[in-house]
Amino acid sequence: MQKDKMIYEGKGKKMWSVLGEPDLLIAEFKDDLTAFDATKRGNESGKGALNNKISTEIFKLLMNAGIKTDMLQSISDTEQVVKKCEIIPLEVIVRNIATGSLTKRLGISEGKILPFALVEFCYKDDALHDPIINDEHAILLNASTQEDLNYIKDQARKINEILKPFFASKGLNLVDFKIEFGRDKDGQIILADEISPDSCRFWDIKTGQKMDKDIFRQDINGGSIKVAYEEVLKRILG
Ligand code: C5P
Repeated sequence: MQKDKMIYEGKGKKMWSVLGEPDLLIAEFKDDLTAFDATKRGNESGKGALNNKISTEIFKLLMNAGIKTDMLQSISDTEQVVKKCEIIPLEVIVRNIATGSLTKRLGISEGKILPFALVEFCYKDDALHDPIINDEHAILLNASTQEDLNYIKDQARKINEILKPFFASKGLNLVDFKIEFGRDKDGQIILADEISPDSCRFWDIKTGQKMDKDIFRQDINGGSIKVAYEEVLKRILG
């Protein structure tokens, strides 16, 4: 499997085409950290490798539970081979506990356990700062159809129902997370991108300690995420 051209560089990953394999891509996880619409930037050696390992384990768990994803295999510490798909320009956010932008937007108290898993959509557009949108906006913007949105919401809730008890068994509250979906060459909607402490919030069940990118966002422990991400990986594997 040989990397050819870099076709895209995002905040957390570089995507490469693969020589002689038009239906595959290599995702390379970067050590860069960004927050607040990339106005805060950092870098921590080893972060890309930790996220690659964590995301690989979570995707494996989901695939074993019947969720279709783009992931094929991890090929190095920081790289995995994925099925090429057309990313649907929506960030799908699932929330179990109120924090972050939800508390700011709606005045819901920090830490309130939500009576049901709340699914939200943001429109992936850097120039517009990824605004929160509803189903009708997504249809208006040709991002998706209502049928596909219903499927995506259903998949997002299923993923939450798999991950919430899994992380609880590891002593972590899955507070919220962001996922993305793509369409593969057959038009099937599949889970894509990554699920890692960059894109989830994990709170230790016993201590309430934050074990995710909020450490960087809020400069907890000098903003260094490594110890917490290593602990998340250790618990996932343990
Ligand atoms: O900031 P907010 O509270 O809306 O974030 C909700 C969840 O989505 C968090 O787990 C956060 O890490 C994730 N998120 C993300 N990428 C974004 C926005 C949010 O991974 N661009």
